[in-house]
Amino acid sequence: MHEPSMAVKLAGVELKNPVVAASGTFGFGREYSQFYDLSELGAICVKGLTAAPRKGNPPPRIAETPMGILNSVGLQNPGIDAFLAQELPFLRRYDVKVIANLSGDTPEEYGQMCEKLSQAGVDLIELNISCPNVKAGGLAYGTRPDLAAEVTRVAKAHAGATPVMVKLSPNVTDVVAIAQAVADAGADALSLINTLLGMRIDVASRRPILRRNTGGLSGPAVLPVAVRMVWEVSRVGLPILGMGGVSDGDSAAQLMLAGASAVAVGTACLAAPYAPLQVRDGLRDIAARQGLSSVAQLTGAIQPW
Ligand code: FUM
Repeated sequence: MHEPSMAVKLAGVELKNPVVAASGTFGFGREYSQFYDLSELGAICVKGLTAAPRKGNPPPRIAETPMGILNSVGLQNPGIDAFLAQELPFLRRYDVKVIANLSGDTPEEYGQMCEKLSQAGVDLIELNISCPNVKAGGLAYGTRPDLAAEVTRVAKAHAGATPVMVKLSPNVTDVVAIAQAVADAGADALSLINTLLGMRIDVASRRPILRRNTGGLSGPAVLPVAVRMVWEVSRVGLPILGMGGVSDGDSAAQLMLAGASAVAVGTACLAAPYAPLQVRDGLRDIAARQGLSSVAQLTGAIQPW
């Protein structure tokens, strides 16, 4: 079998392969660098950043579910300045693209953070307008086309030449309306899906398992939702980073066939640190078996009925 090319482009950024470590499941790469060379990945999307450091929500904030997990981490992170001072220099030791995921309380805060990240030379900015676990910002912006567009416009105005990707929530009735609004506001790419709002209850105590009652569901259970939404959103015409339940070559290929240019591996990393490399190798095998010269030929190649 011939070796297909694994290189892809996402919003003009060249990735050596389509596999991205998803935000919030890979920290800043330090722990995973003990297992393998981070340069093996297409890109690393770092833990969600906020303007100030955050401790996150009180525990319990993770609960297992059939084929997935619920989380209500609440954007725990050291803050953007610590990221720029300590974590970005560490990541720059590797030949891997760096995507910075950020959340703000106001459009202006998104703008200020974009300016810092762009000046620091990150490769791509991911605007998180879809975190279900915080009071301000987050999902509040991701469920209304007008607010999603406003955040995107302000971010773009401050991001300089750095491409801006917007992370969409599945917790909406019409994901295409949100995608179209951010596209019209100048977004360079879309990423989806963030987690699905869910809940688990301990029957004996009658208490929700998560201290914040609800959380975001991720893992293989959400893959069909992600595939459907990527397919719907592909009609908007922006490059897509697909995610939601990617754990092997087949799940990644489904998202690419639905329209994704690259895929992010999230929850699978928590159980299996090597998952991103297994996804990459699985994608390569599928492309080779199908006689493709490049894995990029999977993107949007679905044959719908
Ligand atoms: O709670 C969290 O930190 C999750 C963030 C997200 O889903 O965007």
